[in-house]
Amino acid sequence: MPKKLVNRNPAVSDFRAEVLLGMEKQPRSISPKFFYDSEGSRLFDEITRLPEYYPTESEISILREKCSELNQLSMGSEEGIELGSGNGKKAAILLDCFGKMNSYILVDISITALEEAMDSLSSKFSNMDISAICVDYRDGKFMKQMEMQHPGKRMLIFLGSTIGNMEPEEAMEFLKECRNSMMDGDRFLVGVDMKKDPEIIEKAYNDSSGVTAKFNLNLVERMRRELGAEIPENAFTHMAYYNEGKGRIEMHLLCTMDFSMKVAGKEFIFRKGETIHTENSYKYSAEEFSGMLKKAGFTKNSYLTDSRKFYGLFVADA
Ligand code: SAH
Ligand code: AVI
Repeated sequence: MPKKLVNRNPAVSDFRAEVLLGMEKQPRSISPKFFYDSEGSRLFDEITRLPEYYPTESEISILREKCSELNQLSMGSEEGIELGSGNGKKAAILLDCFGKMNSYILVDISITALEEAMDSLSSKFSNMDISAICVDYRDGKFMKQMEMQHPGKRMLIFLGSTIGNMEPEEAMEFLKECRNSMMDGDRFLVGVDMKKDPEIIEKAYNDSSGVTAKFNLNLVERMRRELGAEIPENAFTHMAYYNEGKGRIEMHLLCTMDFSMKVAGKEFIFRKGETIHTENSYKYSAEEFSGMLKKAGFTKNSYLTDSRKFYGLFVADA
């Protein structure tokens, strides 16, 4: 079976433009999609194995425990498309559960994560047509193309609660785009981290081994490595807290001193205590997320959860 990886990876210039734009904003920000260079993808994989980071183990426990239900749900689907697949570890579990599927397409912005996924999945599922596209799935053209290349019934998959990294309005728009790229009878599988005790959530983003801090600070390293940014040592530190009013974790790079940063011919002044906002991770209640799926045009939806009810795997019909 053909195994191919198409690289439509955004260029370094996109990161430069993002940084220059984000440093002009007030408050300053950088989109979380820029976390995932090869070091960021490696660090994310480390995060998924941390005892405090419950979303991965919760979602995997659902995939394993509800394997026969997933098998039923996949019946009739000829193709699977997974958005933000990362290194394909969850795809391997899903493909073990799913009934016969002809093809599976992995979509991610990280080329190294996709290479790893292709390596492990191609040998394990050698009778399937497995391919990968390195692209920003928020690029509207991509979802339009997905709509055209539509052979038989399809299952669209979006795991990891990556939808939580979008603003709720953006998530709504994205759910609509997903719905529009699907045909009646197609199915959508989307993982969502649920609202829970804020202490549990905060610990997941402030792990005792400091891996999440490294993941966040990798953005500073990326600015140095790729853009030649001049930033004093230890100028930033990791900060993550639960904003209860907004139902989201906020990650920031907190300035530990007054300094100036030189990047791409520009200079930016930072003051101690100021932050660069790097990520939001929204948590939803089952009612909230189910309502969003309905609003996006999915006819019916239900969800599978884990024993602690920490996580929801929503199944929606187009
Ligand atoms: N689904 C995996 C990985 C989650 S991490 C899991 O559940 O463990 C989020 C993944 O989404 C990363 O692999 C990252 O590279 C990818 N990603 C984030 N923003 C993206 C974007 N705009 N376009 C494509 N991929 C993106
Ligand atoms: C990918 N995404 C859903 C993760 C999250 O939990 O928001 C990224 C992450 N950020 C810090 N830890 C993990």
